[in-house]
Amino acid sequence: MNAAIPDLRHHTAVVTGATGGMGQVIAATLINAGARVVTVARNPARADALRAHIGRDNERRLDIIPGDLTRREDLITTAQVIEDRYEQIHILVNNAGAHFPDHRVSPDGIEMHIALDYLAAYGLMTRLDTPLRRGRARIVNVASDTVNDTRRVKLARKPRPATLDLTHVDDLADLNPQAGFVPFEAYARAKLMTVTAGYALARSFTPDGVTLNAVHPGIVATDIIDDLVPPLLRPFGAIIRRTMRTPADGAGTALRIATDPQLAGVTAHYFNQGSAAVTPPVSHDPAVQQKLLTLSEAHFAR
Ligand SMILES: NC(=O)c1ccc[n+]([C@@H]2O[C@H](COP(=O)([O-])OP(=O)(O)OC[C@H]3O[C@@H](n4cnc5c(N)ncnc54)[C@H](OP(=O)(O)O)[C@@H]3O)[C@@H](O)[C@H]2O)c1
Repeated sequence: MNAAIPDLRHHTAVVTGATGGMGQVIAATLINAGARVVTVARNPARADALRAHIGRDNERRLDIIPGDLTRREDLITTAQVIEDRYEQIHILVNNAGAHFPDHRVSPDGIEMHIALDYLAAYGLMTRLDTPLRRGRARIVNVASDTVNDTRRVKLARKPRPATLDLTHVDDLADLNPQAGFVPFEAYARAKLMTVTAGYALARSFTPDGVTLNAVHPGIVATDIIDDLVPPLLRPFGAIIRRTMRTPADGAGTALRIATDPQLAGVTAHYFNQGSAAVTPPVSHDPAVQQKLLTLSEAHFAR
C-alpha cells in the first residue's frame, strides 16, 4: 500500500486527526507531495507540535483551524471557515477518532463515539458539500473492521458484527445509551454508522465525480491502542505495540485510496487495508441509510 504519491500541487486536502498517529503521517505525506492541508485541532500544544513536525519550509501549506470535532457548533464553524477559504477541496480524509473506555456525552448530548467517530465525518462531508463537489474530491473515511467483528479477544469462533437498529430511534442522542454500555461495541457502532451513511452519500456525490470510500487501516501502534487493549493485557503494551503496523503503514491505506490514479472513480467501497471487503448487511439497507441521514441532518439543523 505504499504506492508513490502523485504530484498534488494545487490540491487542497482536509485531514482530521492530523495532530497524532496516522493522521500526522497522512498530512505530512500530502504536504510533501505539494498539497495544502487543512486540519482541525482542539489542543494548541498538539497543533504547535504538528507545525514543528511539518517544518518551516512546508508550514505555509498547513492550515490549522482550532476546534473540537465533537461539538456541533465547532464543526459547523470549522466547515464555514474552510468553505470561505477554499473554493475547492480535492481530498477529505475523515481520520479523527477515538475509543472511549466509559460512557461520555458531548456538550450536545450525544454519546462521544457517535459524536467523534461518526458525526464529525458526516458533518464535514455534508457541510463541505459545495467545495467537495467543485473539487471532484476523493473522500476517505477511516473506519475500523470492528464493524465486522466486535470481539476484543477472538477466542470464540464466530465473528460478532457491530449492530445498528434505528427502529425506535428518534434522535441520535438515543444511541449508545448508558444502560448496557459496552465501549468497544459503541465504537464499532459509530464506525458502522460512518460506513452506512457513506454508502448513501457516495451515491449522491457520484454525478459530480466525487468518490467516497471507507478503510480499515489494520491494527496500528498509535495512542488509540492504549484504550483498545483489554486491561489484562495492558502491562504488555510495549510488546504488543511492536507486533502492530506502524503509523506509516496504517496511513498508507488511506493515502492510496485518496491519491492513487488507478483508483480514480472507485467509490462506495470498504477496504480492509489493501483489499476491498464487505460490511454487515445493515450498512447496505436503503431504509436504514435514509433514516440515518434524516437523524443526522436533524442533529445539525438544531
Ligand atoms: N490504531 C488502530 O489500530 C486503528 C484501527 C482501526 C481504525 N483506527 C482509526 O484510525 C483513525 C486514526 O486513529 P489513530 O490510531 O491514528 O489514533 P490517534 O493517534 O489517537 O489519533 C487520533 C487523532 O484524532 C484527534 N482527535 C481526537 N478527538 C478529537 C476531537 N474531539 N476533535 C478533533 N480531533 C480529535 C486526535 O487529536 P488530539 O491530538 O487532540 O488527541 C488525534 O489527532 C481513527 O479514526 C481510529 O478510529 C485506528
